Amino acid sequence: MTNLIDIKGVRHAYQTEDGPLPVLDGLEISVHEGGFVAVVGPSGCGKSTLTRLIAGLMKPDHGEVWLHGERVRGPRSTVGMAFQNPVLLEWRTILKNVLLPLEIVPTKLTKKQAEERARFLLSLVGLEGFEDKRPSELSGGMRQRASLCRALIHQPEVLILDEPFGALDAFTREDLWQTMHRVKEREPFTGVLITHDLRESIFLADQVVVLSGRPARTQYVLDVPSSGPRTLDDLYTPAAVEQLAILREQIQIAQGRATPEDTAA
Ligand SMILES: Nc1ncnc2c1ncn2[C@@H]1O[C@H](COP(=O)(O)OP(=O)(O)OP(=O)(O)O)[C@@H](O)[C@H]1O
Ligand SMILES: [Mg+2]
Repeated sequence: MTNLIDIKGVRHAYQTEDGPLPVLDGLEISVHEGGFVAVVGPSGCGKSTLTRLIAGLMKPDHGEVWLHGERVRGPRSTVGMAFQNPVLLEWRTILKNVLLPLEIVPTKLTKKQAEERARFLLSLVGLEGFEDKRPSELSGGMRQRASLCRALIHQPEVLILDEPFGALDAFTREDLWQTMHRVKEREPFTGVLITHDLRESIFLADQVVVLSGRPARTQYVLDVPSSGPRTLDDLYTPAAVEQLAILREQIQIAQGRATPEDTAA
């Protein structure tokens, strides 16, 4: 299977007033076309830095980032991004917010087709009827749904989600997980999800990459085998419970609370 994203031996340090701050130290991540990888790791270990490297917003000091067989050397229009706090423009309607990227990225769609696509995406995430509302008239979960549509409007090959559900309450978050599955079925993309929520990682992704503490390296990779659509009940199966236990242990190792030797004993 061909990889759509290949991160090879990536090292990066930020230059700060106190000298260089090494953030990434030998990152290896591959995502096949249509794959969905979740990246988990201690706070401040370099996860958001990784998303900026994939999007081409930054260049690594060492190593390579490849997207669809091409070395990433600058910003890519084939990447869509959504973040924890969706920044929607209050003076534009929800529909116009979703259409915004098409005013920046070249598109083959006519104005009418673009609007139809935006309306389709909004209905896919359950926002039919809210097209003409302003962002402040929506709940946090609804704003996040709109931001997801905006990230998808130009049919990106890669969708990067940096803790998109982190600020939402548990029920809204679980609702959005199911929405994500529905969206991916209709609008295939290759996904990279940064999250602190281990349940979220195994519910959405087919592979979970655990990063070590800063400077981060790829510490552990967990495959999440799946047959067919997932339901929330799948999170309570013995297999899921075991996967979560493995990930929790790996996070503890990453946080320096346990060593691989401790856990092997
Ligand atoms: N532009 C920058 N200049 C200097 N240091 C930075 C810069 N951006 C991030 N850092 C530092 O790099 C480290 C990694 O930051 P990053 O945002 O990638 O972490 P993260 O894993 O996303 O954290 P969190 O889980 O809290 O979101 C942090 O120590 C941060 O302070
Ligand atoms: Mg971050």
